[in-house]
Amino acid sequence: MSLILGLESSCDETAAALVTSDRRILAHKLAGQEEAHRPFGGVVPEIAARAHVERMTPLVEAALAEAGISLRQVDAIAATAGPGLIGGVMVGLVTAKALAHAAGKPLIALNHLEGHALSPRLADPDLEFPYLLLLVSGGHCQLLLVEGVGTYRRLATTIDDAAGEAFDKTAKLLGLGFPGGPAVERAALLGDPGAVPLPRPLVGSAEPHFSFAGLKSAVLRARDAGIHRPEDIAASFQQAVIDCLIDRTARAIGRAPQATALVMAGGVAANTPIRAAIEGLAARNGLRFVAPPLWLCTDNGAMIAWAGAERFAAGLFDGLDAPARPRWPL
Ligand code: KG4
Ligand code: ZN
Repeated sequence: MSLILGLESSCDETAAALVTSDRRILAHKLAGQEEAHRPFGGVVPEIAARAHVERMTPLVEAALAEAGISLRQVDAIAATAGPGLIGGVMVGLVTAKALAHAAGKPLIALNHLEGHALSPRLADPDLEFPYLLLLVSGGHCQLLLVEGVGTYRRLATTIDDAAGEAFDKTAKLLGLGFPGGPAVERAALLGDPGAVPLPRPLVGSAEPHFSFAGLKSAVLRARDAGIHRPEDIAASFQQAVIDCLIDRTARAIGRAPQATALVMAGGVAANTPIRAAIEGLAARNGLRFVAPPLWLCTDNGAMIAWAGAERFAAGLFDGLDAPARPRWPL
């Protein structure tokens, strides 16, 4: 049994968590920065980095206090080392390096996407490799065959925007507020998903990838036409995203017969209608469906600590010279 401290700071959530290899979450601390970024309608990297500096150490102390644990009892310290906003990534990684050095513990420098990719196994002890993962977040939209810890086969990615990015831009265009994903989901509840004709980029395409840029431009045109309610545009947009995700994921299922389950992770997996649609797709294909609880879908420290526990078990550690990487494909 191992006990891992996990730090996350790659975007606008500062987080620290303590998780054991037998899936006990001993502490889970998170400080969002929505108020600081709201006036700008998006995450401002410099503001984010400064907020991470102020919050990371107190959050680590609070996590240790909540669990009643001293740093000496921790087996390893894991932190997101990329991809993400480099100023924020450096705060978490440097904090982890300092703690690892001071306490004489190993460092695990994690790819943030690996945190999302393995988080469903924290939520579901029965989820075994290989599984087909739809990873949908603010920065990424990918289909991965997760074959084992450290073995990820990318079957598809976006050729332009990520799905979460499309949600955020749509919210901004419609004046629905920040953060965009939950705002669009709320507005869509009051709208008609069939009201506004919007494109479904790459649906039916022989190539495997996603595309959302054209959808975003169509939202802009629909808004400027001045004849649609924002709620109807939001609902129609969300339905278009669902149709794209379903079509592309169905294609990948056909090419990954070895997958034991269809799994969703990343911030967009917190969207209830999208979850339900992917769950239905899994059922139609006789696949088990697994998605972490909503709080574990958006960025958090527990997914980093858990991925750290998985790497710890595999003997995968990093040196104190591990670099922070703004771009880092999984
Ligand atoms: O995984 P995450 O917290 O951070 C990244 O690694 O990017 O994902 C954040 C993204 C944002 O684009 C946000 O708008 C989106 O996830 N998101 C949602 C919902 N909650 C968060 N998108 C749609 N519906 C939601 N309920
Ligand atoms: Zn993320």
